[in-house]
Amino acid sequence: MATIDSVLQENRVFPPPADAVARATISGMAAYEALCKEAETDYSGFWGRLAREHLVWKKPFTQTLDESGAPFYKWFADGALNVSWNCLDRNLENGNADKVALIFEADDGKVSKVTFRELHALVCKFANGLKSRGVKKGDRVLIYMPMSVEGVAAMQACARIGATHSVVFGGFSAKSVQERVVDAGATAIITADEQCRGGKNIGLKVVVDEAFSLGGCEAVHSVIVYQRTGNAINMAAGRDVWLHDLIKDQAATCEPEWVEAEHPLFLLYTSGSTGKPKGVQHSSAGYLLHAILTNKWTFDLKGDDTFWCTADIGWVTGHTYIAYGPLACGVTQIVFEGVPTYPDTGRFWRMIQDHKVSVFYTAPTAIRSLIKASENAPATHPRNYKLDSLRILGSVGEPINPEAWMWYHDNVGGGRCPIMDTFWQTETGGHVITPLPGVTPLVPGSCTLPFPGIQAAIVDETGNDVEWGKGGFLVIKRPWPSMIRTIWGDPERFQKSYFPTDLGGKLYLAGDGAVRDAKTGYFTIMGRIDDVLNVSGHRMGTMEIESALVSCTELVAEAAVVGRPDDLTGEAICAFVVLKRARPTGDEAKKIVKQLQDWVAKEIGPIAKPKDIRFGDNLPKTRSGKIMRRLLRALAKGEEITQDVSTLENPAILDQLKQSV
Ligand code: PRX
Repeated sequence: MATIDSVLQENRVFPPPADAVARATISGMAAYEALCKEAETDYSGFWGRLAREHLVWKKPFTQTLDESGAPFYKWFADGALNVSWNCLDRNLENGNADKVALIFEADDGKVSKVTFRELHALVCKFANGLKSRGVKKGDRVLIYMPMSVEGVAAMQACARIGATHSVVFGGFSAKSVQERVVDAGATAIITADEQCRGGKNIGLKVVVDEAFSLGGCEAVHSVIVYQRTGNAINMAAGRDVWLHDLIKDQAATCEPEWVEAEHPLFLLYTSGSTGKPKGVQHSSAGYLLHAILTNKWTFDLKGDDTFWCTADIGWVTGHTYIAYGPLACGVTQIVFEGVPTYPDTGRFWRMIQDHKVSVFYTAPTAIRSLIKASENAPATHPRNYKLDSLRILGSVGEPINPEAWMWYHDNVGGGRCPIMDTFWQTETGGHVITPLPGVTPLVPGSCTLPFPGIQAAIVDETGNDVEWGKGGFLVIKRPWPSMIRTIWGDPERFQKSYFPTDLGGKLYLAGDGAVRDAKTGYFTIMGRIDDVLNVSGHRMGTMEIESALVSCTELVAEAAVVGRPDDLTGEAICAFVVLKRARPTGDEAKKIVKQLQDWVAKEIGPIAKPKDIRFGDNLPKTRSGKIMRRLLRALAKGEEITQDVSTLENPAILDQLKQSV
């Protein structure tokens, strides 16, 4: 736990810069404390006030929080609104119509701009097009799109007609697409012919076609295809339709479907501790409220900002901090199709310079890889670019080690820009523990304090508070508006995973270990407490990868997957495999490693490929047959085995499993 040790020893403190305090909406610690106090004294009054101030309602709500079905909480339940109206029409009404909403920079560097008026028109045509195909309120629509204006518009169009979208990251496999279509019961898919990343064209429609061939997708009546590259693809007559044809004759206005506050805006599949990804279900009003509040308070977004969140719309970060929050706040933002390393590793810095980005939000993995890259290619070091438009930086998805934090602070932020280390999850909808730029003294490696109104705490295994300075389970004690509502189709799993009875059944269990600083109460996240890995900020279930490996029935008899620390990606995937044939060595072993990596890429997606695969005649098991994972973790890290192995049935295989291929 090198990172944790260095955080615990961390004594550098960076007070909020004077200009950030002067400019910020929440300015000064007293203002933050006043908000926390307001929430403590009158919890539903606090959230009710914010929901009235920041959302536009078609029908006002009268009840703020309904706890009667706990833990299936309802927020603002008798109110009605439309999320797309709150993101687009509201900007047409308040003078932002001709302001640029999206600056799209393509992989090849081509830039195009779309105003709020233009985006509104595109979304309305798209929404009318979906309606013409019979898509209606409550239907599930799977979106498998590249980073594009059309990708954002697809999500907004679904929101406009009350269809529930489920975006699948463009790097996921046909099998992943198929499983999500089936689980969500999707009846339409929105995709593109291809996507462009790092100078390469990568097929998307072909993956959707393959998903169909796996079966179970018969309920899908429409596949809408955005033409990105124009290369040849298959179009199934009757089912598949080009987006440009679909919207050609549609009206540029579309009366929104006014939905109840709790109407499911989207499902987003994420990994848990079993093999099957879970469809996290979010609401409309509560979700949007937190998206707006966090964009306004954590990033202090104002009318003159240019915001850039580098996430993909396939992840929750791309939902809250691209597709919804920034639009609802009426700011100009960047949508980037490409990768940070193409055409060179100065891409991010050049784009910040060219577009005068003022608030930049990215992941620690990207920072770590660009640190390395700028050492190898000094011309792409951020010092060679004019980055003085920046005023706030953000980090998300995984712990940021203090070294990377300092580099980001000094070299990208010029020592001037506070870094918001935002802790949150797919399930929380938006930031739950984070600094605020005009409030919080920063300590590298700590996500600091709860967002106003969020009752974050650390408890022991019985649900009792632990003292500051002691580690424990991170929980949130009261429901909050943007929390997960349920796991699609599996309310029991929702209850079990997030409100376990061991903790009393009322605390939201985040699934991370954390510790609060003994003096300041600042939170530091210590990593997942379940079988979930975080590789480059991407959440991967070890069981998911194990089931992918064992589904290679021709080769694999048994597999166990663990994580190990990695300087670049945070954690790396290490798989221990027992083959159906004799344990291979040398070139033969290398060949099988490659074969298995490709297999996992095909089953889940390239991000799930194990970095390290080791072969043994067996796995380390107790006499009762249980795999001893802590031994595997130690082996993966290259540690000497000092643990007691007397309960191990077959100690000899440890030597085999020590050896990397
Ligand atoms: O382990 C925590 C880590 O990412 C997990 C959530 O992953 P996901 O649902 O994919 O959402 C990622 C984007 C919000 C958490 O349980 N995590 C997220 N942010 C941080 C973090 N770990 C440490 N520090 C963070 N700032």
